[in-house]
Amino acid sequence: MDTLSPIAPFPAGFHWGAATAAFQIEGAHQADGRGPSIWDTFCATPGHIADGSDGSVACDHYHRWPGDLDIAQQLGLSAYRFSVSWARIQPAAGGAVNARGLDFYDRLVDGMLERGLAPFMTLYHWDLPQHLQDQGGWNARSTVDAFVDYARTVTRRLGDRVASIATFNEPFVTAYLGHWLGIFAPGLRDPQVAMNAAHHQLLAHGRALQALRADGVTAPMGIVCNMGPVEPLTRSAADQRAAERHDLLVNRFFLDALLTGAYPERLHALVGTAPAVHAGDLADIAAPLDFLGINYYYRFRVGEHGLATTLPPGAQATAMGWEVSHEGLTQHLTDIHHRYPQLPPVVITESGCACDDHLVAGQVHDSFRVDYLRGQIAALGRAIDRGVAVQGYFVWSLLDNFEWSLGYQKRFGLVHVDYPSQTRTVKASGQWYRDFITQQRQLARR
Ligand code: FCB
Repeated sequence: MDTLSPIAPFPAGFHWGAATAAFQIEGAHQADGRGPSIWDTFCATPGHIADGSDGSVACDHYHRWPGDLDIAQQLGLSAYRFSVSWARIQPAAGGAVNARGLDFYDRLVDGMLERGLAPFMTLYHWDLPQHLQDQGGWNARSTVDAFVDYARTVTRRLGDRVASIATFNEPFVTAYLGHWLGIFAPGLRDPQVAMNAAHHQLLAHGRALQALRADGVTAPMGIVCNMGPVEPLTRSAADQRAAERHDLLVNRFFLDALLTGAYPERLHALVGTAPAVHAGDLADIAAPLDFLGINYYYRFRVGEHGLATTLPPGAQATAMGWEVSHEGLTQHLTDIHHRYPQLPPVVITESGCACDDHLVAGQVHDSFRVDYLRGQIAALGRAIDRGVAVQGYFVWSLLDNFEWSLGYQKRFGLVHVDYPSQTRTVKASGQWYRDFITQQRQLARR
């Protein structure tokens, strides 16, 4: 198979996985005592979701998880990244624990282990319980304490079996899209609140890490950030300043705080606002990480009027309109490897693309996605060759699913989901990934 041949062997023990998130696949929002989350509330407002849909059924994974894990096993994955729905665990004000919520994830984790899938758990993938939003959400410091309590509750039950714990998924997106641009839940538009939301997620992350270590949790712990290299559209001073500002917001705000215990000096000067920080916060945020999860989708091309809306000549775009930039992955990893001597090992916790997939005669010929994944993996290999320590690669996503404000219109899966019948069909990309993983295993044995 020539689409496999040029990729060199990855390090022994490297994890090949796929990722999902609770709100995007589970559905079953009324089941077993789950409470509402901010995404339920957000979806209920007309105009927020492009196709008027919501997550109430999604892939019905809450009921179909054994079959979904069977598919993950058939694809030959060594690991599966999932998230826990906080609103199933602590559905109502006061934080009382809903045992049936914990039971679900207990069965799910055992199901992964039975199938040889290392469970990579994410505690927070955007679905804050609505009762905490009603108390101020991520703008309020009290949510930090609530998160630590939730993290301890989940790990008391699952901490002995999960292979990896990530506190947060993409705190930038929660803060910026959710609290500044207002296009994601909770739909707020206030730069100061957004800064506080970013800071409080980081603080909750650092405090949770310390609490879990004190509780004796031994699984590797980290956080997942979305990031990428930033390039000015032109060499003009205005474009360069805009690019610096974007780099600071999306990359350095998080990495400087997590790895050096300080926010970038020029934060206030460039962004015009900064979070409300208390003494000791940054030391907590900089608690040692076992790994950094990176979600990489594209490089940022920024001008004085914002992110570029057109592609550079000759570039390809995914169905999201995102530029295909494999080199951007290599560049970003090598950049941060040099910028931060403290950088822990990296896991690529999401990488993938939306395609205009069609199920024809029981097959999905998503050759664009095959090429995309091949390009990403080859680019990752080049970063490893340049000295970056990388432990795993997770395709976003195992299944087509609810793509947030775009609803069900965008398909990212290795596996096609026909929503009316809930039929799953492994796409050509899923078959390619399975063959690729098999080949990597054979190379590793040589
Ligand atoms: C990431 C999210 C993930 C998915 C992909 C396409 O930002 O973490 O849930 O929506 O984008």
